[in-house]
Amino acid sequence: MQKIRVTTLKQILKLLACAMILKVILGVLFSYRDYVPPNFESDFLRGRKVYFSGSYQTAFYGHIFSGPCSLLLGLVLLNEQFRQRFAKCHRCLGRVQIACVLLLVAPSGLWMAFHAETGAIAGFGFAALAVATGFCISFGWRSAVKRRFAEHRRWMWRCFLLLCSAVVLRLMGGLATIAEVEGEWAYQTAAWTSWLLPLGVFEMAQLRVRRKKQHTQ
Ligand code: HEM
Repeated sequence: MQKIRVTTLKQILKLLACAMILKVILGVLFSYRDYVPPNFESDFLRGRKVYFSGSYQTAFYGHIFSGPCSLLLGLVLLNEQFRQRFAKCHRCLGRVQIACVLLLVAPSGLWMAFHAETGAIAGFGFAALAVATGFCISFGWRSAVKRRFAEHRRWMWRCFLLLCSAVVLRLMGGLATIAEVEGEWAYQTAAWTSWLLPLGVFEMAQLRVRRKKQHTQ
């Protein structure tokens, strides 16, 4: 009975997480009206006119296009039923995701980190996130090539959680507005915790699974 309840709770949480991710993707697509052409009175672009050209502009447009794509691809690729039914498609979309993250999301995020709102503390947070995401997807790719599929799944989950920092960051922003929390420190804290927290929870869960397995052996 308790097992059924836990499974139902897990399903509900999964659905909620998917809904949140889809909401953020739609939100980003909707914000394109402020970005094409750039509206320097909009929330994100306010005060950025001075450096909004050349490499920053290229990185920005690459980022706002590839970010939502990587989240959507991640949702599809981590779906077990999809992988089992459409193995070939999974491999093909997996390659697209690797290119999308390694060539667009991570490098553009790294580049934009130099101009992060509130300065260096948030900037280093985003830069570390970009590097960590690049590492996770590279290790995930390597383990798939070596046919170590359990390891592959773990790395790709890490990568997806890091990509979901974009969702967690916006959730934290929303909560901060509701709680009327203001100040640069709130954004700086969110720039680090939006990816370190989910990653930490994932690693703890992995540790628990490993310990449980050891006990049953
Ligand atoms: C490797 C992962 C990522 C890194 C390192 C990263 C980094 C960044 C940085 C540094 C900025 C500018 C922040 C500032 O100036 O304060 C930014 C903005 C942005 N990012 Fe990402 N990002 C990542 C993933 C994503 C994903 C998966 C999405 C998909 C929704 C996304 C969507 C955006 C958008 C739309 C903006 C423009 C601001 C806005 O409209 O909210 N990012 N990102």
